[in-house]
Amino acid sequence: MSIIIKSEREIGEMRQAGRIVATVLEKLKKALRPGIKTRELDELAARELARLGGRPSFLGYRGYPARICASVNDELVHGIPGERVIREGDLVSLDFGAIHHDFQGDAAITVGVGKISPEAQELMDTTEKALEAGIAAARAGARLGDVSAAIQDYAESRGFTVVREYTGHGIGRQMHEEPQIPNFGQAGTGPELRKGMTLALEPMLTSGDWRTKVAPDGWTVSTADGSLCAHFEHTLAITDGRAEVLTRA
Ligand code: MF3
Ligand code: CO
Repeated sequence: MSIIIKSEREIGEMRQAGRIVATVLEKLKKALRPGIKTRELDELAARELARLGGRPSFLGYRGYPARICASVNDELVHGIPGERVIREGDLVSLDFGAIHHDFQGDAAITVGVGKISPEAQELMDTTEKALEAGIAAARAGARLGDVSAAIQDYAESRGFTVVREYTGHGIGRQMHEEPQIPNFGQAGTGPELRKGMTLALEPMLTSGDWRTKVAPDGWTVSTADGSLCAHFEHTLAITDGRAEVLTRA
């Protein structure tokens, strides 16, 4: 296994997959209000996806039963949409992937519903900025460890903790390709980044310990200590200059 370099044409397909992902996530964010069930968000994703002409990448992946992941408060990732009702003050992570002409896009956002605590806001903002720090470090000629370290250093400088057990990943024809991209690591280590690599960076931060647990449903990942957490993700392509974010609308 090695890191797959994409052609311009392939990156073009991923650009379209990424635009679909960004468009759907924006719709989901607008629909997120107290009283809505997470199942309704999944249904909205299905409708938007049909309208935009993409296929869902999570549905059926290792038996995953939905199109989106909706993870609330101490839930970190892989929350299965269902009858849970969103309430004022919830911190909701929405993760979504789409396929366009056999190429994948994958992104996630965390959204505060109504009024949230200053601590929750700080956690969310820091996670999003940690992702931006990772993107800024993801340049041809840099090493993968530079990206991991940039994310970790930013998160920890603000007093938050990066999750160890889940990582970002290469992406292309498959949702998960080489390499794994931890949200912690050493600058100057790991493979060199090259133009045409396509990567999904996804910092996951907690306000407590980094340990997680999986619910009896086999999917929903929560912080082991019940602390609040946040998750942002973008799919990007390495270029000659700054990485191109493929999942911005
Ligand atoms: N963004 C997540 C990931 O990169 C989505 C996977 S959810 C799954 O792993 F259900 F498809 F597994
Ligand atoms: Co991902």
